[in-house]
Amino acid sequence: MTHDTILILDFGSQYSQLIARRVREHHVYCRLEPCNVPFERIRALQPRGIILSGGPSSVWAAGAPTCDPAVLDLGVPVLGICYGMQLLAQMAGGRVEGGHAGEYGPATIEIIADDRRQTADGRRQTAESRAKQEASVPVAAASLFAGCEATEKVWMSHGDRVVELPPGAAVTARTPTVEVAAFADPARRIYAVQFHPEVSHTPQGSRMLHNFLFDICGCKGDWTMASFVAEAVADIKQRVGADRVVCGLSGGVDSTVVATLIHRAIGDQLTCIFVDNGVLRAGEAEEVVRMARDDIRLNLDAVDAAERFLGRLAGLSDPEEKRLAIGDEFVRVFTEEAERLGGARFLAQGTLFPDLIESKSAFGGPSARIKSHHNVGGMPAWSQFQLIEPLRELFKDEVRELGRELGLPHGILHRQPFPGPGLAVRVVGEVTRSGLSILREADLIVQEEMRKWEHYGTIWQSFAVLLPVKSVGVMGDARTYEFAVAVRVVSSRDGMTADWVRLPYDLMARLSARIINEVDGVNRVLYDISSKPPSTIEWE
Ligand code: XMP
Repeated sequence: MTHDTILILDFGSQYSQLIARRVREHHVYCRLEPCNVPFERIRALQPRGIILSGGPSSVWAAGAPTCDPAVLDLGVPVLGICYGMQLLAQMAGGRVEGGHAGEYGPATIEIIADDRRQTADGRRQTAESRAKQEASVPVAAASLFAGCEATEKVWMSHGDRVVELPPGAAVTARTPTVEVAAFADPARRIYAVQFHPEVSHTPQGSRMLHNFLFDICGCKGDWTMASFVAEAVADIKQRVGADRVVCGLSGGVDSTVVATLIHRAIGDQLTCIFVDNGVLRAGEAEEVVRMARDDIRLNLDAVDAAERFLGRLAGLSDPEEKRLAIGDEFVRVFTEEAERLGGARFLAQGTLFPDLIESKSAFGGPSARIKSHHNVGGMPAWSQFQLIEPLRELFKDEVRELGRELGLPHGILHRQPFPGPGLAVRVVGEVTRSGLSILREADLIVQEEMRKWEHYGTIWQSFAVLLPVKSVGVMGDARTYEFAVAVRVVSSRDGMTADWVRLPYDLMARLSARIINEVDGVNRVLYDISSKPPSTIEWE
Protein backbone atom coordinates (compact mmCIF):
# COMPACT_ATOMS: atom_id res chain seq x y z
CA MET A 1 0.00 0.00 0.00
CA THR A 2 1.50 3.30 -1.00
CA HIS A 3 -0.96 5.80 0.41
CA ASP A 4 -1.56 6.87 3.99
CA THR A 5 -4.16 5.07 6.10
CA ILE A 6 -6.23 6.61 8.86
CA LEU A 7 -7.79 4.08 11.21
CA ILE A 8 -11.18 4.89 12.75
CA LEU A 9 -12.13 2.79 15.74
CA ASP A 10 -15.90 2.50 16.00
CA PHE A 11 -17.44 2.79 19.45
CA GLY A 12 -20.99 2.59 18.14
CA SER A 13 -21.92 6.13 17.14
CA GLN A 14 -24.43 6.52 14.33
CA TYR A 15 -21.87 9.01 12.97
CA SER A 16 -18.86 6.67 12.73
CA GLN A 17 -19.39 6.05 9.02
CA LEU A 18 -19.72 9.78 8.48
CA ILE A 19 -16.25 10.27 9.92
CA ALA A 20 -15.01 7.76 7.36
CA ARG A 21 -16.59 9.54 4.46
CA ARG A 22 -15.38 12.95 5.66
CA VAL A 23 -11.83 11.61 5.82
CA ARG A 24 -12.09 10.21 2.30
CA GLU A 25 -13.50 13.49 1.05
CA HIS A 26 -10.03 14.81 1.81
CA HIS A 27 -8.58 12.06 -0.42
CA VAL A 28 -7.13 10.22 2.53
CA TYR A 29 -7.78 6.48 2.70
CA CYS A 30 -9.33 5.25 5.93
CA ARG A 31 -10.60 2.08 7.47
CA LEU A 32 -13.35 1.77 10.00
CA GLU A 33 -12.84 -1.13 12.39
CA PRO A 34 -14.79 -2.24 15.46
CA CYS A 35 -13.19 -0.77 18.59
CA ASN A 36 -12.12 -4.18 19.88
CA VAL A 37 -10.07 -5.07 16.79
CA PRO A 38 -6.89 -6.87 17.91
CA PHE A 39 -3.85 -4.67 18.35
CA GLU A 40 -1.79 -6.77 15.90
CA ARG A 41 -4.25 -5.83 13.16
CA ILE A 42 -4.01 -2.16 14.09
CA ARG A 43 -0.23 -2.30 13.92
CA ALA A 44 -0.32 -4.18 10.62
CA LEU A 45 -2.38 -1.40 9.05
CA GLN A 46 0.43 1.05 9.84
CA PRO A 47 -1.99 3.94 10.33
CA ARG A 48 -0.76 7.52 10.04
CA GLY A 49 -3.33 8.50 12.61
CA ILE A 50 -6.18 7.02 14.64
CA ILE A 51 -9.62 8.46 15.29
CA LEU A 52 -11.70 7.18 18.20
CA SER A 53 -15.37 7.64 17.28
CA GLY A 54 -18.26 8.65 19.47
CA GLY A 55 -20.59 6.12 21.00
CA PRO A 56 -23.82 5.93 22.97
CA SER A 57 -22.18 4.63 26.15
CA SER A 58 -20.75 6.26 29.25
CA VAL A 59 -17.17 5.24 29.99
CA TRP A 60 -18.52 4.24 33.40
CA ALA A 61 -21.29 1.97 32.09
CA ALA A 62 -20.86 -1.76 32.68
CA GLY A 63 -19.34 -3.31 29.56
CA ALA A 64 -18.57 0.11 28.03
CA PRO A 65 -16.68 -0.44 24.78
CA THR A 66 -12.97 0.17 24.92
CA CYS A 67 -9.90 -0.33 22.77
CA ASP A 68 -6.41 -1.59 23.36
CA PRO A 69 -4.61 1.26 25.22
CA ALA A 70 -1.47 0.32 23.27
CA VAL A 71 -2.83 2.53 20.47
CA LEU A 72 -1.35 5.41 22.49
CA ASP A 73 2.10 3.86 22.26
CA LEU A 74 2.14 3.62 18.48
CA GLY A 75 3.52 7.14 18.28
CA VAL A 76 0.87 8.27 15.76
CA PRO A 77 -1.61 11.08 16.42
CA VAL A 78 -4.89 10.03 18.05
CA LEU A 79 -8.06 12.11 17.81
CA GLY A 80 -10.89 11.28 20.22
CA ILE A 81 -14.39 12.45 19.31
CA CYS A 82 -17.19 12.61 21.91
CA TYR A 83 -17.09 9.19 23.65
CA GLY A 84 -13.66 8.80 22.05
CA MET A 85 -12.56 11.93 23.93
CA GLN A 86 -13.70 10.54 27.29
CA LEU A 87 -11.97 7.26 26.65
CA LEU A 88 -8.82 8.98 25.45
CA ALA A 89 -8.78 11.16 28.58
CA GLN A 90 -9.12 8.10 30.76
CA MET A 91 -6.54 6.00 28.92
CA ALA A 92 -4.01 8.86 28.92
CA GLY A 93 -4.20 9.35 32.68
CA GLY A 94 -6.98 11.93 33.10
CA ARG A 95 -10.22 11.55 35.03
CA VAL A 96 -13.77 11.40 33.71
CA GLU A 97 -16.85 11.90 35.81
CA GLY A 98 -20.17 10.26 34.88
CA GLY A 99 -23.68 10.86 36.07
CA HIS A 100 -24.26 14.26 34.47
CA ALA A 101 -27.35 15.05 32.44
CA GLY A 102 -26.52 14.78 28.73
CA GLU A 103 -26.39 17.82 26.48
CA TYR A 104 -26.99 17.39 22.76
CA GLY A 105 -27.39 19.99 20.06
CA PRO A 106 -25.91 23.25 18.84
CA ALA A 107 -23.29 25.00 20.97
CA THR A 108 -20.65 27.68 20.51
CA ILE A 109 -17.12 26.85 21.51
CA GLU A 110 -14.52 29.35 22.52
CA ILE A 111 -11.18 28.28 21.10
CA ILE A 112 -8.16 28.57 23.33
CA ALA A 113 -4.59 28.21 22.06
CA ASP A 114 -2.55 25.41 23.64
CA ASP A 115 -1.51 26.50 27.11
CA ARG A 116 0.38 23.98 29.20
CA ARG A 117 -0.31 25.78 32.44
CA GLN A 118 -4.04 25.51 32.18
CA THR A 119 -6.06 22.88 34.02
CA ALA A 120 -9.47 21.46 33.24
CA ASP A 121 -11.31 24.08 35.25
CA GLY A 122 -9.16 26.93 33.93
CA ARG A 123 -8.27 28.22 37.41
CA ARG A 124 -4.52 28.37 36.88
CA GLN A 125 -4.80 30.36 33.69
CA THR A 126 -3.22 33.78 34.20
CA ALA A 127 -4.51 37.05 32.79
CA GLU A 128 -1.27 37.28 30.85
CA SER A 129 -1.64 33.89 29.17
CA ARG A 130 -5.28 34.60 28.42
CA ALA A 131 -4.35 37.88 26.68
CA LYS A 132 -1.67 36.03 24.73
CA GLN A 133 -4.18 33.42 23.58
CA GLU A 134 -6.69 35.98 22.49
CA ALA A 135 -4.02 37.73 20.47
CA SER A 136 -3.05 34.46 18.82
CA VAL A 137 -6.46 33.76 17.25
CA PRO A 138 -6.74 32.51 14.48
CA VAL A 139 -4.81 29.73 16.16
CA ALA A 140 -1.33 28.84 14.92
CA ALA A 141 -0.70 25.94 12.51
CA ALA A 142 -0.46 22.27 13.57
CA SER A 143 -3.39 22.77 15.85
CA LEU A 144 -6.78 21.19 15.27
CA PHE A 145 -8.33 24.63 15.17
CA ALA A 146 -5.88 26.39 12.84
CA GLY A 147 -7.79 28.80 10.63
CA CYS A 148 -10.87 28.80 12.86
CA GLU A 149 -12.33 31.93 14.42
CA ALA A 150 -12.13 32.63 18.15
CA THR A 151 -15.61 31.18 18.52
CA GLU A 152 -17.19 28.52 16.33
CA LYS A 153 -20.55 26.75 16.15
CA VAL A 154 -20.42 23.03 16.82
CA TRP A 155 -22.77 20.09 17.30
CA MET A 156 -22.26 19.12 20.92
CA SER A 157 -22.99 15.78 22.46
CA HIS A 158 -21.92 15.30 26.00
CA GLY A 159 -22.84 13.12 28.95
CA ASP A 160 -19.70 12.37 30.98
CA ARG A 161 -17.27 15.16 31.77
CA VAL A 162 -13.49 15.30 31.74
CA VAL A 163 -12.69 16.68 35.19
CA GLU A 164 -8.95 16.15 35.16
CA LEU A 165 -6.83 16.35 32.05
CA PRO A 166 -4.16 13.75 31.28
CA PRO A 167 -0.78 14.99 32.52
CA GLY A 168 0.72 17.44 30.02
CA ALA A 169 -2.58 18.11 28.19
CA ALA A 170 -4.28 21.50 27.93
CA VAL A 171 -7.82 22.64 27.28
CA THR A 172 -8.14 23.90 23.71
CA ALA A 173 -11.83 24.82 23.62
CA ARG A 174 -14.68 25.33 26.07
CA THR A 175 -18.30 26.43 26.19
CA PRO A 176 -20.12 28.19 29.01
CA THR A 177 -21.35 24.79 30.25
CA VAL A 178 -18.58 22.43 29.13
CA GLU A 179 -15.20 23.31 30.63
CA VAL A 180 -13.34 20.80 28.50
CA ALA A 181 -14.92 20.99 25.06
CA ALA A 182 -11.55 20.02 23.57
CA PHE A 183 -8.09 19.22 24.84
CA ALA A 184 -4.72 18.42 23.32
CA ASP A 185 -1.22 17.37 24.15
CA PRO A 186 0.83 17.84 20.98
CA ALA A 187 3.88 16.29 22.67
CA ARG A 188 2.03 12.98 23.11
CA ARG A 189 0.16 13.59 19.85
CA ILE A 190 -3.28 13.33 21.44
CA TYR A 191 -6.19 15.55 20.45
CA ALA A 192 -9.78 15.36 21.63
CA VAL A 193 -13.07 17.11 21.00
CA GLN A 194 -16.32 16.68 22.86
CA PHE A 195 -18.40 17.74 19.84
CA HIS A 196 -18.85 16.16 16.40
CA PRO A 197 -16.65 17.72 13.69
CA GLU A 198 -17.98 15.19 11.14
CA VAL A 199 -21.58 16.48 11.00
CA SER A 200 -22.68 19.38 8.83
CA HIS A 201 -23.95 21.22 11.92
CA THR A 202 -20.30 21.87 12.79
CA PRO A 203 -19.55 24.27 9.91
CA GLN A 204 -15.77 24.28 10.46
CA GLY A 205 -15.66 20.52 11.17
CA SER A 206 -14.18 19.75 7.77
CA ARG A 207 -11.38 22.26 8.40
CA MET A 208 -10.66 20.65 11.78
CA LEU A 209 -10.46 17.19 10.19
CA HIS A 210 -8.29 18.65 7.44
CA ASN A 211 -5.93 20.04 10.10
CA PHE A 212 -5.80 16.67 11.83
CA LEU A 213 -5.15 14.73 8.63
CA PHE A 214 -2.64 17.02 6.97
CA ASP A 215 -0.95 19.21 9.60
CA ILE A 216 -1.02 16.79 12.51
CA CYS A 217 -0.80 13.35 10.84
CA GLY A 218 1.12 14.53 7.77
CA CYS A 219 -1.13 12.75 5.25
CA LYS A 220 -0.59 13.54 1.58
CA GLY A 221 -4.18 13.30 0.32
CA ASP A 222 -3.30 11.15 -2.66
CA TRP A 223 -6.09 8.58 -2.40
CA THR A 224 -8.31 8.59 -5.49
CA MET A 225 -10.79 6.27 -7.17
CA ALA A 226 -8.07 5.35 -9.66
CA SER A 227 -5.90 4.13 -6.79
CA PHE A 228 -8.90 2.32 -5.31
CA VAL A 229 -9.39 0.47 -8.59
CA ALA A 230 -5.70 -0.44 -8.86
CA GLU A 231 -5.62 -1.81 -5.31
CA ALA A 232 -8.96 -3.62 -5.53
CA VAL A 233 -7.91 -5.28 -8.79
CA ALA A 234 -4.59 -6.40 -7.29
CA ASP A 235 -6.34 -7.68 -4.13
CA ILE A 236 -8.95 -9.63 -6.08
CA LYS A 237 -6.32 -11.20 -8.36
CA GLN A 238 -4.23 -12.27 -5.43
CA ARG A 239 -7.15 -13.63 -3.42
CA VAL A 240 -8.85 -15.51 -6.24
CA GLY A 241 -5.76 -17.00 -7.88
CA ALA A 242 -6.89 -19.54 -10.46
CA ASP A 243 -10.32 -20.15 -8.85
CA ARG A 244 -13.72 -19.19 -10.17
CA VAL A 245 -16.00 -16.43 -8.88
CA VAL A 246 -19.75 -16.13 -9.25
CA CYS A 247 -21.30 -12.71 -8.78
CA GLY A 248 -24.93 -12.05 -8.00
CA LEU A 249 -25.92 -9.40 -10.53
CA SER A 250 -29.21 -7.58 -9.93
CA GLY A 251 -28.69 -4.87 -12.51
CA GLY A 252 -28.44 -2.22 -9.81
CA VAL A 253 -25.49 0.14 -9.57
CA ASP A 254 -23.71 -1.77 -6.80
CA SER A 255 -23.68 -5.26 -8.26
CA THR A 256 -22.95 -3.92 -11.77
CA VAL A 257 -19.94 -2.01 -10.49
CA VAL A 258 -18.73 -5.06 -8.54
CA ALA A 259 -19.09 -7.31 -11.58
CA THR A 260 -17.22 -4.84 -13.79
CA LEU A 261 -14.44 -4.42 -11.23
CA ILE A 262 -13.99 -8.17 -10.78
CA HIS A 263 -14.17 -8.72 -14.51
CA ARG A 264 -11.34 -6.25 -14.89
CA ALA A 265 -9.31 -8.24 -12.36
CA ILE A 266 -9.95 -11.84 -13.47
CA GLY A 267 -11.79 -11.69 -16.82
CA ASP A 268 -13.63 -14.88 -17.67
CA GLN A 269 -12.94 -16.56 -14.33
CA LEU A 270 -16.04 -14.54 -13.36
CA THR A 271 -19.59 -15.63 -14.14
CA CYS A 272 -22.44 -13.30 -13.24
CA ILE A 273 -25.69 -14.85 -12.12
CA PHE A 274 -28.91 -12.94 -12.59
CA VAL A 275 -31.75 -14.41 -10.56
CA ASP A 276 -35.36 -13.66 -11.41
CA ASN A 277 -36.69 -14.06 -7.88
CA GLY A 278 -40.32 -13.38 -8.77
CA VAL A 279 -40.31 -10.06 -6.90
CA LEU A 280 -38.86 -7.86 -9.65
CA ARG A 281 -40.53 -4.87 -11.27
CA ALA A 282 -42.37 -4.95 -14.60
CA GLY A 283 -39.94 -5.63 -17.49
CA GLU A 284 -36.92 -5.67 -15.19
CA ALA A 285 -35.56 -9.16 -15.93
CA GLU A 286 -35.40 -8.58 -19.70
CA GLU A 287 -33.81 -5.15 -19.28
CA VAL A 288 -31.07 -6.32 -16.92
CA VAL A 289 -30.14 -9.30 -19.07
CA ARG A 290 -29.88 -7.07 -22.15
CA MET A 291 -27.81 -4.46 -20.31
CA ALA A 292 -25.35 -7.00 -18.87
CA ARG A 293 -24.87 -8.94 -22.10
CA ASP A 294 -25.03 -6.17 -24.70
CA ASP A 295 -23.87 -2.98 -22.93
CA ILE A 296 -21.22 -4.35 -20.55
CA ARG A 297 -20.51 -7.70 -22.23
CA LEU A 298 -20.42 -9.70 -19.03
CA ASN A 299 -20.52 -13.45 -18.95
CA LEU A 300 -24.12 -13.88 -17.71
CA ASP A 301 -26.14 -16.82 -16.49
CA ALA A 302 -29.84 -15.90 -16.13
CA VAL A 303 -31.90 -18.11 -13.80
CA ASP A 304 -35.68 -18.12 -13.51
CA ALA A 305 -36.24 -18.94 -9.84
CA ALA A 306 -39.54 -17.09 -9.36
CA GLU A 307 -41.48 -20.18 -8.29
CA ARG A 308 -39.09 -21.22 -5.55
CA PHE A 309 -38.78 -17.73 -4.08
CA LEU A 310 -42.54 -17.25 -4.01
CA GLY A 311 -42.81 -20.72 -2.41
CA ARG A 312 -40.36 -19.69 0.32
CA LEU A 313 -42.27 -16.47 0.95
CA ALA A 314 -45.69 -18.13 1.21
CA GLY A 315 -47.16 -17.68 4.68
CA LEU A 316 -44.46 -15.23 5.86
CA SER A 317 -45.53 -11.75 6.89
CA ASP A 318 -42.80 -10.64 9.30
CA PRO A 319 -40.35 -8.31 7.50
CA GLU A 320 -37.19 -9.86 8.98
CA GLU A 321 -38.41 -13.40 8.22
CA LYS A 322 -39.12 -12.36 4.63
CA ARG A 323 -35.69 -10.74 4.25
CA LEU A 324 -33.84 -13.71 5.74
CA ALA A 325 -35.80 -16.23 3.62
CA ILE A 326 -34.91 -14.33 0.46
CA GLY A 327 -31.24 -14.01 1.48
CA ASP A 328 -31.04 -17.74 2.17
CA GLU A 329 -32.77 -18.67 -1.10
CA PHE A 330 -30.37 -16.44 -3.06
CA VAL A 331 -27.39 -18.32 -1.63
CA ARG A 332 -29.05 -21.66 -2.49
CA VAL A 333 -29.58 -20.60 -6.09
CA PHE A 334 -26.01 -19.26 -6.37
CA THR A 335 -24.67 -22.51 -4.91
CA GLU A 336 -26.61 -24.69 -7.34
CA GLU A 337 -25.69 -22.56 -10.31
CA ALA A 338 -22.03 -22.50 -9.31
CA GLU A 339 -22.07 -26.32 -9.16
CA ARG A 340 -23.76 -26.50 -12.53
CA LEU A 341 -21.08 -24.22 -13.95
CA GLY A 342 -18.32 -26.50 -12.68
CA GLY A 343 -17.80 -25.07 -9.17
CA ALA A 344 -16.76 -21.69 -7.77
CA ARG A 345 -15.01 -20.92 -4.52
CA PHE A 346 -16.05 -17.28 -4.25
CA LEU A 347 -19.32 -15.39 -4.27
CA ALA A 348 -19.08 -11.66 -5.03
CA GLN A 349 -21.68 -9.20 -3.81
CA GLY A 350 -22.26 -5.47 -4.00
CA THR A 351 -22.51 -4.89 -0.26
CA LEU A 352 -21.99 -1.26 0.67
CA PHE A 353 -20.93 0.37 3.86
CA PRO A 354 -24.39 1.60 4.94
CA ASP A 355 -25.76 -1.96 4.43
CA LEU A 356 -23.18 -3.24 6.88
CA ILE A 357 -23.91 -0.55 9.42
CA GLU A 358 -27.66 -1.10 9.30
CA SER A 359 -27.39 -4.88 9.26
CA LYS A 360 -24.89 -4.86 12.10
CA SER A 361 -24.42 -8.64 12.12
CA ALA A 362 -21.71 -8.78 9.50
CA PHE A 363 -19.86 -5.80 10.87
CA GLY A 364 -19.82 -6.99 14.46
CA GLY A 365 -19.67 -3.44 15.80
CA PRO A 366 -21.77 -1.93 18.53
CA SER A 367 -24.40 -0.21 16.27
CA ALA A 368 -28.03 -1.39 16.46
CA ARG A 369 -29.48 -3.71 13.79
CA ILE A 370 -32.08 -1.88 11.72
CA LYS A 371 -32.73 -4.36 8.89
CA SER A 372 -31.02 -7.44 7.53
CA HIS A 373 -30.00 -6.36 4.08
CA HIS A 374 -30.31 -9.46 1.97
CA ASN A 375 -26.69 -9.42 0.98
CA VAL A 376 -25.43 -9.11 4.54
CA GLY A 377 -27.83 -11.37 6.40
CA GLY A 378 -24.60 -13.31 6.76
CA MET A 379 -23.70 -16.48 4.93
CA PRO A 380 -25.78 -19.44 6.08
CA ALA A 381 -23.67 -21.91 8.03
CA TRP A 382 -24.07 -24.55 5.30
CA SER A 383 -22.57 -22.38 2.59
CA GLN A 384 -19.07 -23.15 1.32
CA PHE A 385 -18.69 -19.82 -0.46
CA GLN A 386 -16.09 -17.28 0.53
CA LEU A 387 -17.41 -13.78 0.09
CA ILE A 388 -15.82 -11.07 -2.03
CA GLU A 389 -17.29 -7.66 -1.24
CA PRO A 390 -14.99 -5.04 -2.73
CA LEU A 391 -17.42 -2.15 -2.07
CA ARG A 392 -17.93 -2.83 1.61
CA GLU A 393 -16.19 0.37 2.63
CA LEU A 394 -17.88 2.65 0.12
CA PHE A 395 -20.96 4.84 0.07
CA LYS A 396 -23.38 4.97 -2.85
CA ASP A 397 -22.04 8.19 -4.33
CA GLU A 398 -18.51 6.78 -4.11
CA VAL A 399 -19.70 3.64 -5.93
CA ARG A 400 -21.06 5.82 -8.72
CA GLU A 401 -17.70 7.58 -8.90
CA LEU A 402 -15.99 4.19 -9.04
CA GLY A 403 -18.36 3.13 -11.84
CA ARG A 404 -17.42 6.27 -13.78
CA GLU A 405 -13.76 5.41 -13.26
CA LEU A 406 -14.52 1.96 -14.71
CA GLY A 407 -16.19 3.55 -17.74
CA LEU A 408 -19.80 2.47 -17.06
CA PRO A 409 -22.49 4.50 -18.84
CA HIS A 410 -24.34 7.27 -17.00
CA GLY A 411 -27.69 5.50 -17.47
CA ILE A 412 -26.53 2.48 -15.48
CA LEU A 413 -24.81 4.50 -12.77
CA HIS A 414 -27.85 6.64 -12.14
CA ARG A 415 -30.47 3.93 -11.83
CA GLN A 416 -32.40 4.32 -8.62
CA PRO A 417 -31.45 1.87 -5.86
CA PHE A 418 -33.70 -1.18 -5.69
CA PRO A 419 -33.51 -3.48 -2.66
CA GLY A 420 -32.28 -7.06 -3.02
CA PRO A 421 -35.54 -8.42 -1.56
CA GLY A 422 -37.30 -6.40 -4.25
CA LEU A 423 -41.06 -5.95 -4.22
CA ALA A 424 -41.28 -8.42 -1.34
CA VAL A 425 -40.48 -5.55 1.04
CA ARG A 426 -43.01 -3.32 -0.73
CA VAL A 427 -45.96 -5.70 -0.50
CA VAL A 428 -46.48 -5.10 3.18
CA GLY A 429 -47.26 -8.35 5.01
CA GLU A 430 -47.64 -11.64 3.13
CA VAL A 431 -46.45 -11.62 -0.47
CA THR A 432 -49.09 -13.03 -2.81
CA ARG A 433 -49.15 -13.24 -6.59
CA SER A 434 -52.20 -10.98 -6.77
CA GLY A 435 -50.56 -8.45 -4.47
CA LEU A 436 -47.41 -8.47 -6.59
CA SER A 437 -49.36 -7.95 -9.77
CA ILE A 438 -51.25 -4.96 -8.32
CA LEU A 439 -48.00 -3.46 -7.05
CA ARG A 440 -46.20 -3.95 -10.39
CA GLU A 441 -48.89 -2.02 -12.23
CA ALA A 442 -48.98 0.80 -9.69
CA ASP A 443 -45.17 0.97 -9.60
CA LEU A 444 -44.96 1.21 -13.39
CA ILE A 445 -47.24 4.25 -13.29
CA VAL A 446 -45.08 5.85 -10.59
CA GLN A 447 -41.97 5.22 -12.69
CA GLU A 448 -43.55 6.61 -15.86
CA GLU A 449 -44.87 9.76 -14.22
CA MET A 450 -41.74 10.41 -12.18
CA ARG A 451 -39.44 10.06 -15.21
CA LYS A 452 -41.36 12.85 -16.91
CA TRP A 453 -40.79 15.18 -13.96
CA GLU A 454 -38.08 17.78 -14.58
CA HIS A 455 -36.40 17.12 -11.23
CA TYR A 456 -36.34 13.32 -11.59
CA GLY A 457 -32.53 13.34 -11.65
CA THR A 458 -32.33 14.86 -8.18
CA ILE A 459 -34.31 12.24 -6.31
CA TRP A 460 -32.98 9.09 -4.68
CA GLN A 461 -35.94 6.76 -5.10
CA SER A 462 -39.58 6.83 -6.18
CA PHE A 463 -41.82 3.80 -5.84
CA ALA A 464 -45.17 2.38 -4.81
CA VAL A 465 -45.97 0.25 -1.76
CA LEU A 466 -49.01 -2.00 -1.48
CA LEU A 467 -50.63 -1.76 1.93
CA PRO A 468 -52.57 -4.64 3.46
CA VAL A 469 -55.45 -2.29 4.12
CA LYS A 470 -58.80 -2.20 2.35
CA SER A 471 -61.10 0.76 2.42
CA VAL A 472 -64.44 1.74 1.00
CA GLY A 473 -64.75 3.85 -2.13
CA VAL A 474 -67.25 4.66 -4.82
CA MET A 475 -66.57 4.24 -8.54
CA GLY A 476 -69.29 5.14 -10.99
CA ASP A 477 -72.36 4.33 -8.95
CA ALA A 478 -70.89 1.30 -7.25
CA ARG A 479 -69.33 0.75 -3.88
CA THR A 480 -65.73 -0.49 -3.91
CA TYR A 481 -63.76 -2.15 -1.14
CA GLU A 482 -60.16 -2.29 -2.27
CA PHE A 483 -56.49 -1.88 -1.34
CA ALA A 484 -54.54 1.30 -0.66
CA VAL A 485 -51.21 2.13 -2.34
CA ALA A 486 -48.62 4.42 -0.78
CA VAL A 487 -46.30 6.43 -3.02
CA ARG A 488 -42.83 7.07 -1.59
CA VAL A 489 -40.46 9.60 -3.15
CA VAL A 490 -37.31 10.48 -1.22
CA SER A 491 -34.16 12.50 -1.61
CA SER A 492 -30.97 11.29 0.02
CA ARG A 493 -27.23 11.50 -0.33
CA ASP A 494 -26.34 8.01 0.76
CA GLY A 495 -29.48 6.24 1.94
CA MET A 496 -28.50 6.68 5.59
CA THR A 497 -30.81 9.66 6.04
CA ALA A 498 -33.57 10.74 3.69
CA ASP A 499 -36.32 13.28 3.31
CA TRP A 500 -39.63 13.00 1.48
CA VAL A 501 -39.76 15.03 -1.68
CA ARG A 502 -42.19 17.96 -1.87
CA LEU A 503 -43.81 16.94 -5.15
CA PRO A 504 -45.99 19.44 -7.00
CA TYR A 505 -49.70 18.87 -6.28
CA ASP A 506 -50.54 18.34 -9.94
CA LEU A 507 -47.99 15.51 -10.16
CA MET A 508 -49.46 13.93 -7.03
CA ALA A 509 -52.91 14.32 -8.53
CA ARG A 510 -51.81 12.54 -11.74
CA LEU A 511 -50.20 9.72 -9.78
CA SER A 512 -53.33 9.22 -7.73
CA ALA A 513 -55.78 9.48 -10.62
CA ARG A 514 -53.82 7.12 -12.85
CA ILE A 515 -53.24 4.49 -10.17
CA ILE A 516 -56.87 4.43 -9.08
CA ASN A 517 -58.25 4.46 -12.62
CA GLU A 518 -55.79 2.05 -14.21
CA VAL A 519 -54.96 -0.47 -11.51
CA ASP A 520 -57.65 -2.98 -10.63
CA GLY A 521 -57.89 -3.59 -6.91
CA VAL A 522 -56.82 -0.11 -5.72
CA ASN A 523 -59.20 2.66 -4.69
CA ARG A 524 -56.98 4.88 -2.52
CA VAL A 525 -53.51 6.44 -2.88
CA LEU A 526 -51.47 7.93 -0.04
CA TYR A 527 -48.29 9.99 -0.18
CA ASP A 528 -45.67 9.02 2.41
CA ILE A 529 -44.45 12.16 4.21
CA SER A 530 -41.99 10.50 6.61
CA SER A 531 -38.29 11.24 6.72
CA LYS A 532 -35.50 8.80 7.65
CA PRO A 533 -34.95 8.77 10.58
CA PRO A 534 -37.32 8.10 12.24
CA SER A 535 -38.85 6.04 9.38
CA THR A 536 -36.79 4.00 6.92
CA ILE A 537 -36.98 4.35 3.14
CA GLU A 538 -38.47 0.93 2.42
CA TRP A 539 -41.53 0.00 4.44
CA GLU A 540 -40.05 -3.31 5.56
P1 XMP B 1 -33.89 1.59 4.24
O1 XMP B 1 -35.24 1.01 3.94
O2 XMP B 1 -33.09 0.73 5.16
O3 XMP B 1 -33.11 1.58 2.87
O4 XMP B 1 -33.97 3.02 4.69
C1 XMP B 1 -31.94 2.29 2.61
C2 XMP B 1 -31.57 2.07 1.15
O5 XMP B 1 -31.15 0.71 0.94
C3 XMP B 1 -32.01 0.05 0.03
N1 XMP B 1 -32.23 -1.29 0.58
C4 XMP B 1 -31.54 -2.39 0.21
N2 XMP B 1 -30.56 -2.58 -0.70
N3 XMP B 1 -30.44 -4.88 -0.15
C5 XMP B 1 -30.04 -3.82 -0.88
O6 XMP B 1 -29.16 -4.00 -1.72
C6 XMP B 1 -31.42 -4.79 0.78
O7 XMP B 1 -31.78 -5.75 1.43
C7 XMP B 1 -31.98 -3.47 0.97
N4 XMP B 1 -32.95 -3.00 1.80
C8 XMP B 1 -33.06 -1.65 1.54
C9 XMP B 1 -33.27 0.88 -0.01
O8 XMP B 1 -33.96 0.73 -1.24
C10 XMP B 1 -32.74 2.27 0.20
O9 XMP B 1 -32.23 2.85 -0.96
